[in-house]
Amino acid sequence: MAGEAGTTELKRRYRALVAAGELRPDPDQERAVAVLAALAEKLEEQPRRGSPIWRLAGRFERPPGGVYMWGGVGRGKSMLMDLAFETIHYAPKRRVHFSEFMLEVHDRLRAQRATGAGDPVPHVAKAIAAETKLLCFDEMIVNNSADAMILSRLFTHLLDGGVTVVTTSNRPPRDLYKDGLNRDLFLPFIALIERALEVVPLNGPTDYRLERLGGMPTWYVPNGPEATAALSEAFFRLTDYPVEDRTKVPSEELHVPGGRTLHVPKSLKGVAVFSFKRLCAEARGSADYLAIARHFHTVVIVGIPKLGPENRNEAARFVSLIDALYEHKVKLLAAADAPPDQLCTTGDGAFEFERTASRLMEMQSADYLARGHGAT
Ligand SMILES: Nc1ncnc2c1ncn2[C@@H]1O[C@H](COP(=O)(O)OP(=O)(O)O)[C@@H](O)[C@H]1O
Ligand SMILES: [Mg+2]
Repeated sequence: MAGEAGTTELKRRYRALVAAGELRPDPDQERAVAVLAALAEKLEEQPRRGSPIWRLAGRFERPPGGVYMWGGVGRGKSMLMDLAFETIHYAPKRRVHFSEFMLEVHDRLRAQRATGAGDPVPHVAKAIAAETKLLCFDEMIVNNSADAMILSRLFTHLLDGGVTVVTTSNRPPRDLYKDGLNRDLFLPFIALIERALEVVPLNGPTDYRLERLGGMPTWYVPNGPEATAALSEAFFRLTDYPVEDRTKVPSEELHVPGGRTLHVPKSLKGVAVFSFKRLCAEARGSADYLAIARHFHTVVIVGIPKLGPENRNEAARFVSLIDALYEHKVKLLAAADAPPDQLCTTGDGAFEFERTASRLMEMQSADYLARGHGAT
């Protein structure tokens, strides 16, 4: 709400974090905060649906389209999005990871199509608009034609339905679905974003996430208390977790295909901690690994053993897990009984494991760590 000095809560909160030294001053972020604060003010001035003013005039005016923040990894996109989501007093609002939202949209389209009632897109968009007035997406990315083909119509109907969108992405709108199949059919979506949303680059020189890791190694050998302590320190640095709360990190039930769930023992701000056992010793497959790779930008795995003929199923699952993480540019921190190139040296899998070992090596490089999350 516009505060005493006419300053929005968002600006106050951001400035307080900078003043406290939790955030370093960053001109790109300040610009983005100003844009988000202006959005907050506009939204908070909107007459409440159904109120007399709304009946008189408000319903004929469309709320602002929203904001599109883009930039490289660790620039503070998700942080600002979370701050905006918390401080914008406008309801109903929802924050969701973009790829999960799209899976949900396809489910709803499928159900709607089954009723045989014509074009399902407007119908589904209308239903979403009735549930949410502010949609905050983290990590907008378009990498399949099923999404690409419906996005323009879906978002046109959402915006027409009065939904405001705040989104982050690691590329500017003009590079979305770059080199994708039938990209000309996707271009109207780019035009829509550029027209309806305020596009704000958040692409300063500093990757704060990498900076928080402060050059810490990402692969620890061997498993044991020292590795566990280092990884837990990395986890807390990456999630800005308050020291006093360290005993109660939230867990999560991640939805995976087939209506099942996967228990994530520690899950916070896109960072997950798993044991090797949970991921590779149970009956899990590439669909589970894909869900993990889409959902988390960073994964910590502890307890990776040496792999050989005695645990060949685990080894095969591990290969498929690392493929999914690698393809989605997920950052990996791990504790293992050997360095990647000595993890699997015996048995039939050893030859094929060379590719995985090489991926694991690359995943430790500064270049890999600076790449944006998501498949391209
Ligand atoms: N101005 C800043 N100064 C210091 N740390 C920051 C700043 N902005 C963001 N961070 C921290 O950097 C990390 C990465 O930020 P995040 O929002 O996750 O980046 P992105 O979503 O752009 O990849 C987070 O721990 C965040 O709190
Ligand atoms: Mg992010």
